[in-house]
Amino acid sequence: MTPLGVLSVASEMFPLIKTGGLADVIGALPGALAREGVTVRTLIPGYPQVLDAIGGARAVHTNPDLFGGPGRVLAAQIEGLDLLVLDAPHLYERPVNPYLGPDGKDWPDNAVRFAALARVAADIGLGALEGYRPDVVHAHDWQAGLTPAYLHYHEGARPGTVMTVHNLAFPGKVPRELLARLGLPPRSYAVDGVEFHGTISLLKAGLQFADRITTVSPSYAAEIRTEEAGMGFAGLLRARADVLSGILNGIDTGIWDPAVDKLIAEPFGRTTLAKRAANKAALRAWMGLTQDPAAPLFGVVSRLSWQKGMDMLLACLPVLRVLGAQLALVGAGEADIEAGFRTEAAQAPGRIGCVIGYNEALAHLMQAGADALLVPSRFEPCGLTQLCALRYGAVPVVARVGGLADTVIDANAAALATGVATGVQFAPVSAEMLDVALRRTVALYREPTVWRQLQTNGMAADVSWRGPARQYAALYRGLVEARA
Ligand code: ADP
Ligand code: GLC
Repeated sequence: MTPLGVLSVASEMFPLIKTGGLADVIGALPGALAREGVTVRTLIPGYPQVLDAIGGARAVHTNPDLFGGPGRVLAAQIEGLDLLVLDAPHLYERPVNPYLGPDGKDWPDNAVRFAALARVAADIGLGALEGYRPDVVHAHDWQAGLTPAYLHYHEGARPGTVMTVHNLAFPGKVPRELLARLGLPPRSYAVDGVEFHGTISLLKAGLQFADRITTVSPSYAAEIRTEEAGMGFAGLLRARADVLSGILNGIDTGIWDPAVDKLIAEPFGRTTLAKRAANKAALRAWMGLTQDPAAPLFGVVSRLSWQKGMDMLLACLPVLRVLGAQLALVGAGEADIEAGFRTEAAQAPGRIGCVIGYNEALAHLMQAGADALLVPSRFEPCGLTQLCALRYGAVPVVARVGGLADTVIDANAAALATGVATGVQFAPVSAEMLDVALRRTVALYREPTVWRQLQTNGMAADVSWRGPARQYAALYRGLVEARA
């Protein structure tokens, strides 16, 4: 196998900075790809948290005028990750959230902040770092979207480019007046360029100009070519269907391993499922729920947003009472949904518990202690929490969309008869069908042998990065060969 070098470009990376699954993917893929003979270096912005974590790293590249201030690329190794950090205080020295200011709104200069990331990624791709020339530059989501565009407009040899869409709902729209400021040529403002409904879309820049496009599940790759799910990009994605593919996400099975997880109350495995009871008790204690031996416990670990169908779940809470079930939720997001769950929890003490916020330890205990994990998303490019749930014996109850459709096998009569079911799916995605799914789940829960089989089937599923990493490696190799 010829070794291959990939520069990965993204705006977040676990464990340094995370707002969602993107960070998990960026943090886990390099290790999995190393086993496939692919060496990944990852370029991320130097937010304060990132600079703190890498300490005194050495500068390997400087740019005295990077969109209005100096920028340096720092090289660091951390937790086995080969990092390139773009230190540009005028762009990234800001507190807390990578995208939002204290008012909860996008930073007004986000276009420039992430154009800088893409510009430096392109420069590195073209050989700006001494002794380093990646074969492929892999850009993730709108924040890195300009990278393939900058490389496209470069005259002369360039590396291959891959654009991965983790979520089409974030187009990275910026005013058309910024075209020159972003360093794009006038001709790029066109339907077959970066123009998007009268604005510039940084995501479209990547989708238009990358050599290959991937998204994070085969079903989502198909869905986004339809007007219904294409969020304005369907035509472009249909036109580029020959270079578009879906590669499922995995999870880091070292971090998510119920047999050795230090963040749960009692480790367990497929043959020691009875030990989950201690985790269920600990989860209930954390969430202020009564220790009712008969009650099935539903868990949620989620951004609280329209995408995630959390408003539908709010509408379905009455059925949980009818079913004698409990709900434990950890999540943060839209203010009205947060308020909705707070109110419901206050009105149903001991039965509904919610922690509004981001809590890594609670997310692990949730997977270990909940009987079922709810993911009622309206759309879901892949989803990671249902993969964690499978691994932890929390039966996933999911909307039949995107990656959820691809990773959970519905407990219908045929799947139960053949013994392959791993969870519950519902479609179409509506509060009514979620209600039906909740009832169906509790009926399955009341049949201990069937339930046990759902759990053990799920725990046997391969949710690791092994298979996906192999597919990315093949994609990179195919691209390099095609361009040779
Ligand atoms: P998305 O990226 O759309 O939010 P994913 O399922 O792909 O959804 O990834 C979400 C990631 O964030 C998972 O690792 C999940 O465990 C984690 N997560 C989401 N919300 C919380 C929370 N409130 N506390 C802790 N972890 C969370
Ligand atoms: C996005 C998607 C989610 C996916 C994650 C990582 O945040 O919403 O479905 O799992 O990216 O690819």
